[in-house]
Amino acid sequence: MKLLLTHIKELLQVRENCPEKLSGKEMKELPTLKNAWVFIHHGVIEDYGTMDKMGPHQGFKTLDCSGKIVMPAWCDSHSHIVYAGNREQEFVDRINGLSYQEIAEKGGGIVNSAKKLQQTSEEDLYHQSAARLEEVMRLGTGAIEIKSGYGLTTEAEMKMLRVAKKLDEEYPITIKTTFLGAHAIPTEYKGNKDGYLDLLCNEMLPKVAEEKLAEYVDIFCEEGYFSVDDMERILSEGKKYNLIPKVHVNQFNSIGGIAAAVKHNALSVDHLEVMTEKDIEDLKDSDTMPVALPSCSYFLSIPYAPGRKMIDAGLPLALATDYNPGSTPSGNMNFVVATACIKMRLTPEEAINAATINGAYAMGLSKTHGSITKGKTANLIITKPVPSYGYLPYAFGSNLIDSVIINGKEV
Ligand code: NIG
Ligand code: FE
Repeated sequence: MKLLLTHIKELLQVRENCPEKLSGKEMKELPTLKNAWVFIHHGVIEDYGTMDKMGPHQGFKTLDCSGKIVMPAWCDSHSHIVYAGNREQEFVDRINGLSYQEIAEKGGGIVNSAKKLQQTSEEDLYHQSAARLEEVMRLGTGAIEIKSGYGLTTEAEMKMLRVAKKLDEEYPITIKTTFLGAHAIPTEYKGNKDGYLDLLCNEMLPKVAEEKLAEYVDIFCEEGYFSVDDMERILSEGKKYNLIPKVHVNQFNSIGGIAAAVKHNALSVDHLEVMTEKDIEDLKDSDTMPVALPSCSYFLSIPYAPGRKMIDAGLPLALATDYNPGSTPSGNMNFVVATACIKMRLTPEEAINAATINGAYAMGLSKTHGSITKGKTANLIITKPVPSYGYLPYAFGSNLIDSVIINGKEV
């Protein structure tokens, strides 16, 4: 299958030799070509250039992109899109004054989703999750990470990861899977956290590894959930099975999770709404990508990750959705990018870099995704006619996507 896009008003994130991630000042640069073309063949970007230098391309489908912007599809490195049912009642409870933590203490929150998921058949779970995946693909996401963590029993955790694997087989979007058994302490283990950690280490991790259901291991390191010591235990255990850490840290409190994650060579540390100077220092000169989830801050009315400060300190930054039923029931990366500009004071260039190449890095995909580079997977967003790329985050509530190409095919 060959496809040619011509007369592109502006082609974004064009990099002949794309770095694996961008940090600090590098994030201000967004290389583009005006009046451009892109040629796609066998699902990869074969060539691109400006219209004045386009060779003879004939005999295959051509899309005229006059007035439109073309850019790499979003790389969403943090999601929980495999889940059962919703939690809109907790949303209403929060409007009426309860906090996210108070709801969790009353048996709501993650364990509420776990109960629903345990009672949902694998087939039903697949269909509910596939509908969400189709929605995010239409919103321009071309690669996504999916976590377990709403099962909290060995069987239910495996069920979630099998569903994620099946989605990967059935859909053109690239999917990476993460084992997040340590998401919350299940009701049956209330007051016996170590018992649950034993189950994670002795039963769940070996089975997940044996069936090759996940590449990454995650833990919710937070007061009332899992401590830094618990995190060290799970990450060390995961290492025995070559599972790479990607962890939830600093959502409500800074308790030392970042230093521990960096020590364990985490690929990413995610959330970061509460950051101390030391947390920022601990990330410097590491290979760990900080990931901000601004839609979560928006939905829970909690602080935004200090993205401006982190970039000014020379750090890289990625942006992701955190799509899940409790803290972020939205998988819209366009909203994430706009919110990062509006609330975290990222420039459009920084936000687009954070949601493409740096997002790809946070899923181990920066060699194949996240930029317009020859040989990379042909995952592209074609916008509606827009005045400039700054208009994309500016017009934050509008759907400005005309079409999405994933693996060389229109979705
Ligand atoms: O990333 N913070 C932990 N986990 C999810 C939310 C879980 C839930 O409320 O269902 C998150 O925000
Ligand atoms: Fe999350």
